[in-house]
Amino acid sequence: MAERVSLILSLPSVSHSRTSPPRMAAFAGGAAVSSRLNPSATRASLCLTSSSRSPSLVSFTSLASLKCLRSSPRISHLFLDQSRAEVRASSGGYSTVSAPKSFASDPDQLKSAREDIKELLRTKFCHPIMIRLGWHDAGTYNNNIEEWPQRGGANGSLRFEVELKHAANAGLVSALKLLQPIKDKYSGVTYADLFQLASAIAVEEAGGPKIPMKYGRVDVSAPEQCPEEGRLPDAGPPSPADHLRQVFYRMGLNDKEIVALSGAHTLGRSRPERSGWGKPETKYTKDGPGAPGGQSWTAQWLKFDNSYFKVKTSDIKERKDEDLLVLPTDAVLFEDLSFKVYAEKYAEDQEAFFKDYAEAHANLSNLGAKFDPPEGIVIDDFSPKVQPEKFVAAKYSTGKRELSESMKQKIRAEYEAIGGSPDKPLPTNYFLNIMIVIAVLAILTFLLGN
Ligand code: HEM
Repeated sequence: MAERVSLILSLPSVSHSRTSPPRMAAFAGGAAVSSRLNPSATRASLCLTSSSRSPSLVSFTSLASLKCLRSSPRISHLFLDQSRAEVRASSGGYSTVSAPKSFASDPDQLKSAREDIKELLRTKFCHPIMIRLGWHDAGTYNNNIEEWPQRGGANGSLRFEVELKHAANAGLVSALKLLQPIKDKYSGVTYADLFQLASAIAVEEAGGPKIPMKYGRVDVSAPEQCPEEGRLPDAGPPSPADHLRQVFYRMGLNDKEIVALSGAHTLGRSRPERSGWGKPETKYTKDGPGAPGGQSWTAQWLKFDNSYFKVKTSDIKERKDEDLLVLPTDAVLFEDLSFKVYAEKYAEDQEAFFKDYAEAHANLSNLGAKFDPPEGIVIDDFSPKVQPEKFVAAKYSTGKRELSESMKQKIRAEYEAIGGSPDKPLPTNYFLNIMIVIAVLAILTFLLGN
C-alpha cells in the first residue's frame, strides 16, 4: 500500500505553461492533495487523511501506515522529523534503509539514488535541466542573512509550488517530475541533497569534472520557508556585469566563480516558451535528443567541455553561428576586463576550466545549506589510492633474469623472518648500529694507544 501511494503521488497530472500555472499538489508539500487530480491521487489523499488525524498516532501506527505518512509530501514535510524519531524508538525495525537513520540523508540511499539518477540521465538526456534545478535551489542564497532557512540556498525549497512559480524557474517542474519517483523510492534522501546529487552527477556523466560533493542537507518543511522572488539573475539586465556581480557577490561568490559557473551553459538549451530567450529550434536542437527544440549555446549541448568559451570567443567577435545562443550575461564574460581573463583562459585550457568549475560547483551546492551531520556526508572516495609497490624481483637481484616463484618466496620468507619485507627497506636496528660504532671506536683507541 505504502509503495503504491508513493508511486501514485509521483505521477500527478501536472502540465506547465506560462499561461496555465502548474497543478503542483504532489510536489508542493504544503499544498493540498486535491481531488482535482486523478482518482488514484484521491486514494492517496484518503490514506493521508486517515493517518494524519492525529500526529500522536505515529508511535503506535503500523509500519505500512508510517510509510504512507512518510511517503506523502504533505505529511512528511510536517511530521518528518517527529516520525523519524518515533520510528526509531518504537519499532527498532523500520528498514527501508540499511543503516540507522541518524542524519539528514542516509549514505547508502544516497549511493543507490546516484545509480538511479545515472539511469535516468541515460534514458532521458536530462543532464542540463538537472544542473539548472540544483543551481536554482542553491542560487537563492543571501550571504547577508544568517538565519536558516531565511538565508535561502540549497535547502530543497524549490520543490514547493510557490517557488517553482517564480519566473526564473519556468520549466523546472519537469526536472522535479523526473526526480520524484527517485525521491519516493529513497525516503532517506532529502530533496535538497537529491537536487544537488542529480546536478553533480549530470555534470560528471556529461563528461565534466568530478565534483567534490558532500551531502546531508536538511530540507525546509513548508512553503512559507521559500525565499522571495527575484534572487536569481536576469539574462538581459541593463548593465549585465553589474547585475551579475550584485547577484553572485550576494551569494558570497567571486568573479572567477561567476565565469566558471556560467560555463555550465556548455550544456542545454534555452526555450522561448520558458524563459523567453532563444529560438524555438535550431539545426542543433530540432532532433533532440530528449524533447526537441530550443536554442543551445554550443553545437554539442550534451557534452560538458570548454566549448562554451571557445564558441563564444569566436562568436562575439564574428557573430558566426546564428544557431547558437549568446545571452547578454554570456556576452559580458568576454567583454568585462576582470571576467575576460578567466573566459579567455578557459577557452585555451579545458583542464583549468574543469578544475575551477568543480570547485565553484561544490561551493554553489553548499550555499545556505544546513548539514546534518554538520561536517556533511561524503559518498565518493577522493583519497588518492596508495597502492603497495609491486614486488619486482629484478630490484633485489643482480642478474637480469626473472627469479622463479620459489626463489621469490624464499627471499620473502627470509625478509619476514627478521621482521622485514622485500617491498620495504628493513627497519633500522639502532641498537646494533651503536654497538658496532662503539666496537670500532674501541678497536681504534686500542690500536692508536699501542
Ligand atoms: C550567470 C547568470 C545566469 C543566467 C542569466 C542564466 C540564464 C539562463 C537562461 C535564460 C536559461 C534558459 C532556460 C530555459 O529557457 O529553459 C538557462 C538555462 C540553463 N542554465 Fe543558466 N543562467 C545563469 C547561470 C547559470 C549557472 C550558474 C548554471 C549552473 C551552474 C546554469 C546552468 C544552466 C543550464 C544547464 C541551462 C540549460 C537548461 C536546459 O537545457 O533545460 N546557469 N540559464
